[in-house]
Amino acid sequence: MFRLAHVTDPHFRTPRGFPGVSAAELLGKRAVGYLNLTVNRVRKHKMDLLEDMRVDLRAQAPDHLALTGDLSNIALGSEWRSALAWLDLSGVAPDAISVIPGNHDAYVPEVLATREFERLFAPYQTSDLDRDGESAYYPFVQIREPLALIGVSSAVATGDLGAWGRIGEAQLARLEAILTAPEVRALTRVVLIHHPPVVHKGGEHRNLRDRAGLAAVLARAGAELVLHGHDHHDERAELPGPDGRKIPIIGAGSASYAGGPERRARYSIYEFEEAGPPRGPITWVSRVHDEATSFFREARREALVP
Ligand SMILES: [Fe+2]
Repeated sequence: MFRLAHVTDPHFRTPRGFPGVSAAELLGKRAVGYLNLTVNRVRKHKMDLLEDMRVDLRAQAPDHLALTGDLSNIALGSEWRSALAWLDLSGVAPDAISVIPGNHDAYVPEVLATREFERLFAPYQTSDLDRDGESAYYPFVQIREPLALIGVSSAVATGDLGAWGRIGEAQLARLEAILTAPEVRALTRVVLIHHPPVVHKGGEHRNLRDRAGLAAVLARAGAELVLHGHDHHDERAELPGPDGRKIPIIGAGSASYAGGPERRARYSIYEFEEAGPPRGPITWVSRVHDEATSFFREARREALVP
Protein backbone atom coordinates (compact mmCIF):
# COMPACT_ATOMS: atom_id res chain seq x y z
CA MET A 1 0.00 0.00 0.00
CA PHE A 2 1.18 3.55 -0.83
CA ARG A 3 0.16 6.35 1.56
CA LEU A 4 -0.01 9.97 0.38
CA ALA A 5 -0.45 12.74 2.97
CA HIS A 6 -2.17 15.95 1.87
CA VAL A 7 -1.62 19.16 3.86
CA THR A 8 -3.04 22.49 2.72
CA ASP A 9 -3.45 26.15 3.70
CA PRO A 10 -1.10 26.16 6.71
CA HIS A 11 -0.64 29.96 6.43
CA PHE A 12 2.73 29.93 8.19
CA ARG A 13 3.85 32.98 10.11
CA THR A 14 7.26 33.90 11.45
CA PRO A 15 7.66 33.04 15.15
CA ARG A 16 7.62 36.64 16.43
CA GLY A 17 6.66 39.65 14.37
CA PHE A 18 8.26 40.05 10.97
CA PRO A 19 12.06 39.98 11.34
CA GLY A 20 13.82 41.15 8.21
CA VAL A 21 10.67 42.59 6.66
CA SER A 22 10.85 46.22 5.61
CA ALA A 23 8.08 48.70 6.38
CA ALA A 24 7.80 49.28 2.63
CA GLU A 25 6.97 45.62 2.10
CA LEU A 26 4.27 45.69 4.74
CA LEU A 27 2.85 49.09 3.92
CA GLY A 28 2.79 48.72 0.17
CA LYS A 29 0.29 46.52 -1.60
CA ARG A 30 0.29 44.15 1.33
CA ALA A 31 -1.16 46.72 3.79
CA VAL A 32 -4.70 45.30 3.98
CA GLY A 33 -3.32 41.77 4.14
CA TYR A 34 -1.02 42.75 6.97
CA LEU A 35 -3.89 44.31 8.89
CA ASN A 36 -6.02 41.22 8.33
CA LEU A 37 -3.09 39.10 9.46
CA THR A 38 -2.57 40.93 12.73
CA VAL A 39 -6.26 41.26 13.54
CA ASN A 40 -7.83 38.03 12.28
CA ARG A 41 -5.40 35.36 11.22
CA VAL A 42 -3.34 35.35 14.39
CA ARG A 43 -6.51 34.37 16.22
CA LYS A 44 -7.83 31.86 13.64
CA HIS A 45 -4.61 30.16 12.58
CA LYS A 46 -2.32 28.83 15.32
CA MET A 47 1.26 27.84 14.68
CA ASP A 48 1.36 25.37 17.57
CA LEU A 49 -1.30 23.30 15.74
CA LEU A 50 1.22 22.93 12.90
CA GLU A 51 3.76 21.68 15.42
CA ASP A 52 1.26 19.11 16.72
CA MET A 53 0.61 18.07 13.11
CA ARG A 54 4.31 17.68 12.41
CA VAL A 55 4.56 15.25 15.33
CA ASP A 56 1.60 13.25 13.99
CA LEU A 57 3.01 13.23 10.46
CA ARG A 58 6.31 11.84 11.70
CA ALA A 59 4.44 9.06 13.49
CA GLN A 60 2.26 8.32 10.45
CA ALA A 61 5.36 8.25 8.21
CA PRO A 62 3.56 8.60 4.85
CA ASP A 63 5.31 7.57 1.63
CA HIS A 64 4.73 11.01 0.12
CA LEU A 65 3.55 14.45 1.27
CA ALA A 66 1.73 16.99 -0.92
CA LEU A 67 1.17 20.65 0.06
CA THR A 68 -1.42 22.47 -2.02
CA GLY A 69 -0.63 26.10 -1.33
CA ASP A 70 -1.28 29.10 0.89
CA LEU A 71 1.89 28.31 2.79
CA SER A 72 2.07 32.04 3.64
CA ASN A 73 -0.32 34.90 4.36
CA ILE A 74 1.14 37.80 2.42
CA ALA A 75 3.87 36.01 0.41
CA LEU A 76 6.82 37.01 2.59
CA GLY A 77 10.10 35.11 2.38
CA SER A 78 10.10 34.83 6.17
CA GLU A 79 6.72 33.05 6.13
CA TRP A 80 7.97 30.60 3.49
CA ARG A 81 11.13 29.95 5.48
CA SER A 82 8.93 28.88 8.41
CA ALA A 83 7.28 26.42 6.03
CA LEU A 84 10.68 25.15 4.85
CA ALA A 85 11.83 24.58 8.44
CA TRP A 86 8.63 22.63 9.13
CA LEU A 87 9.19 20.48 6.02
CA ASP A 88 12.80 19.87 7.08
CA LEU A 89 11.54 18.39 10.35
CA SER A 90 8.56 16.54 8.88
CA GLY A 91 10.45 13.26 8.67
CA VAL A 92 9.59 13.02 4.96
CA ALA A 93 12.50 12.97 2.49
CA PRO A 94 12.70 15.96 0.08
CA ASP A 95 12.11 13.83 -3.01
CA ALA A 96 8.91 12.54 -1.37
CA ILE A 97 7.45 16.05 -0.99
CA SER A 98 5.48 18.05 -3.59
CA VAL A 99 4.64 21.75 -3.12
CA ILE A 100 2.47 24.07 -5.21
CA PRO A 101 1.53 27.72 -4.49
CA GLY A 102 -1.85 29.20 -3.51
CA ASN A 103 -3.25 32.68 -3.99
CA HIS A 104 -1.64 33.90 -0.75
CA ASP A 105 1.77 32.84 -2.11
CA ALA A 106 1.26 35.09 -5.13
CA TYR A 107 -0.07 38.04 -3.17
CA VAL A 108 1.59 40.84 -5.13
CA PRO A 109 2.89 40.89 -8.74
CA GLU A 110 6.50 41.46 -7.58
CA VAL A 111 6.50 38.02 -5.95
CA LEU A 112 5.52 36.33 -9.20
CA ALA A 113 8.12 38.35 -11.11
CA THR A 114 11.02 37.39 -8.81
CA ARG A 115 9.90 33.72 -8.64
CA GLU A 116 10.99 33.66 -5.01
CA PHE A 117 8.50 30.89 -4.18
CA GLU A 118 9.83 28.66 -6.96
CA ARG A 119 13.44 29.31 -5.92
CA LEU A 120 12.79 28.44 -2.27
CA PHE A 121 10.65 25.37 -2.93
CA ALA A 122 12.60 24.08 -5.97
CA PRO A 123 13.56 20.78 -4.24
CA TYR A 124 9.84 20.00 -3.92
CA GLN A 125 8.95 21.01 -7.49
CA THR A 126 11.26 18.79 -9.51
CA SER A 127 9.83 17.33 -12.71
CA ASP A 128 10.37 13.91 -14.23
CA LEU A 129 9.21 15.08 -17.64
CA ASP A 130 11.20 17.82 -19.36
CA ARG A 131 10.12 21.39 -18.78
CA ASP A 132 10.38 23.99 -21.47
CA GLY A 133 11.94 26.82 -19.42
CA GLU A 134 10.40 29.16 -16.83
CA SER A 135 7.25 29.83 -18.81
CA ALA A 136 6.47 26.11 -18.74
CA TYR A 137 7.43 25.55 -15.10
CA TYR A 138 3.93 24.29 -14.16
CA PRO A 139 2.57 21.71 -14.25
CA PHE A 140 5.46 19.60 -13.02
CA VAL A 141 5.13 15.84 -12.75
CA GLN A 142 6.76 13.62 -10.15
CA ILE A 143 6.72 9.92 -10.82
CA ARG A 144 6.60 8.07 -7.51
CA GLU A 145 5.24 4.65 -8.38
CA PRO A 146 2.46 3.72 -8.27
CA LEU A 147 1.63 7.46 -8.40
CA ALA A 148 2.31 10.29 -10.80
CA LEU A 149 1.85 13.59 -8.93
CA ILE A 150 1.06 16.54 -11.18
CA GLY A 151 1.51 20.02 -9.66
CA VAL A 152 -0.65 22.72 -11.26
CA SER A 153 -0.45 26.42 -10.34
CA SER A 154 -3.66 28.43 -10.13
CA ALA A 155 -1.94 31.24 -8.22
CA VAL A 156 -2.32 34.73 -9.64
CA ALA A 157 -1.59 38.06 -7.93
CA THR A 158 -5.01 39.08 -6.67
CA GLY A 159 -3.78 41.29 -3.81
CA ASP A 160 -6.08 42.20 -0.97
CA LEU A 161 -9.29 42.33 -2.92
CA GLY A 162 -9.61 38.90 -4.44
CA ALA A 163 -8.67 35.27 -3.96
CA TRP A 164 -9.55 33.90 -7.36
CA GLY A 165 -7.32 31.65 -9.42
CA ARG A 166 -6.50 30.90 -13.03
CA ILE A 167 -4.55 28.10 -14.71
CA GLY A 168 -4.30 29.63 -18.16
CA GLU A 169 -4.56 28.14 -21.64
CA ALA A 170 -0.88 27.23 -22.01
CA GLN A 171 -0.73 25.40 -18.70
CA LEU A 172 -3.99 23.56 -19.42
CA ALA A 173 -2.58 22.36 -22.73
CA ARG A 174 0.57 21.08 -21.00
CA LEU A 175 -1.56 19.42 -18.32
CA GLU A 176 -3.45 17.47 -20.97
CA ALA A 177 -0.17 16.42 -22.62
CA ILE A 178 1.21 15.24 -19.27
CA LEU A 179 -1.95 13.31 -18.29
CA THR A 180 -1.92 11.47 -21.61
CA ALA A 181 1.85 10.82 -21.80
CA PRO A 182 2.33 7.02 -21.86
CA GLU A 183 4.68 6.96 -18.82
CA VAL A 184 2.13 8.96 -16.79
CA ARG A 185 -1.04 7.36 -18.06
CA ALA A 186 0.16 3.95 -16.88
CA LEU A 187 0.25 5.23 -13.27
CA THR A 188 -2.30 6.46 -10.74
CA ARG A 189 -2.49 10.16 -11.66
CA VAL A 190 -2.96 12.61 -8.76
CA VAL A 191 -3.50 16.25 -9.79
CA LEU A 192 -2.60 18.93 -7.19
CA ILE A 193 -4.18 22.38 -7.46
CA HIS A 194 -4.86 25.07 -4.85
CA HIS A 195 -8.32 26.24 -6.00
CA PRO A 196 -11.30 23.86 -6.05
CA PRO A 197 -12.03 22.77 -9.63
CA VAL A 198 -15.74 22.79 -8.81
CA VAL A 199 -17.55 25.64 -7.08
CA HIS A 200 -18.25 25.05 -3.43
CA LYS A 201 -18.88 28.60 -2.27
CA GLY A 202 -20.46 31.58 -3.96
CA GLY A 203 -18.60 34.65 -5.17
CA GLU A 204 -16.47 34.68 -8.30
CA HIS A 205 -13.86 36.80 -6.49
CA ARG A 206 -12.53 33.58 -4.88
CA ASN A 207 -13.12 30.90 -7.51
CA LEU A 208 -11.04 29.22 -10.17
CA ARG A 209 -11.94 31.31 -13.23
CA ASP A 210 -11.11 28.68 -15.86
CA ARG A 211 -12.57 25.67 -14.05
CA ALA A 212 -14.57 24.77 -17.18
CA GLY A 213 -11.30 24.44 -19.08
CA LEU A 214 -9.88 22.17 -16.39
CA ALA A 215 -13.03 20.04 -16.35
CA ALA A 216 -12.77 19.65 -20.13
CA VAL A 217 -9.14 18.49 -19.88
CA LEU A 218 -10.04 16.01 -17.13
CA ALA A 219 -13.01 14.72 -19.15
CA ARG A 220 -10.76 14.01 -22.14
CA ALA A 221 -7.52 12.93 -20.47
CA GLY A 222 -8.71 11.53 -17.13
CA ALA A 223 -7.03 11.46 -13.70
CA GLU A 224 -7.51 9.14 -10.73
CA LEU A 225 -7.69 11.84 -8.02
CA VAL A 226 -7.65 15.65 -7.75
CA LEU A 227 -6.58 17.28 -4.46
CA HIS A 228 -7.10 20.93 -3.55
CA GLY A 229 -7.27 23.43 -0.70
CA HIS A 230 -8.45 27.06 -0.48
CA ASP A 231 -11.87 26.57 1.18
CA HIS A 232 -10.53 25.65 4.64
CA HIS A 233 -12.80 22.67 5.13
CA ASP A 234 -12.97 19.05 4.00
CA GLU A 235 -15.12 18.58 0.92
CA ARG A 236 -15.80 15.96 -1.68
CA ALA A 237 -17.00 16.34 -5.26
CA GLU A 238 -16.46 14.58 -8.55
CA LEU A 239 -16.02 15.36 -12.23
CA PRO A 240 -16.67 13.08 -15.19
CA GLY A 241 -13.63 11.39 -16.68
CA PRO A 242 -13.38 9.56 -19.98
CA ASP A 243 -15.09 6.15 -20.25
CA GLY A 244 -17.79 7.20 -17.77
CA ARG A 245 -15.61 6.89 -14.67
CA LYS A 246 -15.96 9.62 -12.02
CA ILE A 247 -12.85 11.46 -10.86
CA PRO A 248 -12.88 12.16 -7.09
CA ILE A 249 -12.16 15.84 -6.29
CA ILE A 250 -11.21 16.18 -2.62
CA GLY A 251 -10.43 19.30 -0.61
CA ALA A 252 -8.85 19.36 2.84
CA GLY A 253 -9.36 21.89 5.63
CA SER A 254 -6.64 24.30 6.75
CA ALA A 255 -3.69 22.75 8.57
CA SER A 256 -3.63 25.52 11.19
CA TYR A 257 -7.27 26.48 11.76
CA ALA A 258 -8.04 26.83 15.47
CA GLY A 259 -11.85 26.68 15.30
CA GLY A 260 -14.39 23.98 16.22
CA PRO A 261 -14.03 20.24 15.52
CA GLU A 262 -15.72 20.25 12.08
CA ARG A 263 -13.08 22.60 10.62
CA ARG A 264 -10.25 22.31 13.12
CA ALA A 265 -6.65 21.81 11.91
CA ARG A 266 -6.47 18.65 9.83
CA TYR A 267 -4.81 16.79 7.01
CA SER A 268 -5.69 13.82 4.84
CA ILE A 269 -3.99 10.53 4.09
CA TYR A 270 -4.86 8.64 0.90
CA GLU A 271 -4.25 4.92 0.89
CA PHE A 272 -3.63 3.44 -2.55
CA GLU A 273 -3.72 -0.28 -2.95
CA GLU A 274 -0.84 -1.13 -5.23
CA ALA A 275 -2.93 -2.90 -7.81
CA GLY A 276 -1.59 -0.99 -10.82
CA PRO A 277 -3.79 -0.35 -13.84
CA PRO A 278 -6.68 -0.90 -13.86
CA ARG A 279 -6.41 1.25 -10.77
CA GLY A 280 -7.02 -0.19 -7.35
CA PRO A 281 -9.08 1.10 -4.45
CA ILE A 282 -8.37 4.51 -2.87
CA THR A 283 -9.32 5.25 0.74
CA TRP A 284 -9.58 8.80 2.15
CA VAL A 285 -8.52 9.14 5.78
CA SER A 286 -8.83 12.46 7.60
CA ARG A 287 -6.74 13.19 10.71
CA VAL A 288 -8.00 16.04 12.89
CA HIS A 289 -6.49 17.94 15.81
CA ASP A 290 -8.14 17.19 19.13
CA GLU A 291 -8.28 20.34 21.25
CA ALA A 292 -8.47 18.47 24.57
CA THR A 293 -5.36 16.34 24.04
CA SER A 294 -3.42 18.26 21.34
CA PHE A 295 -3.10 14.95 19.48
CA PHE A 296 -4.41 14.23 16.01
CA ARG A 297 -6.91 11.43 15.61
CA GLU A 298 -8.60 9.69 12.70
CA ALA A 299 -11.94 11.42 12.08
CA ARG A 300 -12.90 9.88 8.74
CA ARG A 301 -12.25 6.74 6.70
CA GLU A 302 -14.08 6.70 3.42
CA ALA A 303 -13.74 4.69 0.22
CA LEU A 304 -13.25 6.98 -2.80
CA VAL A 305 -12.75 4.21 -5.29
CA PRO A 306 -14.04 0.90 -3.95
FE1 LIG B 1 -6.39 30.12 -0.90
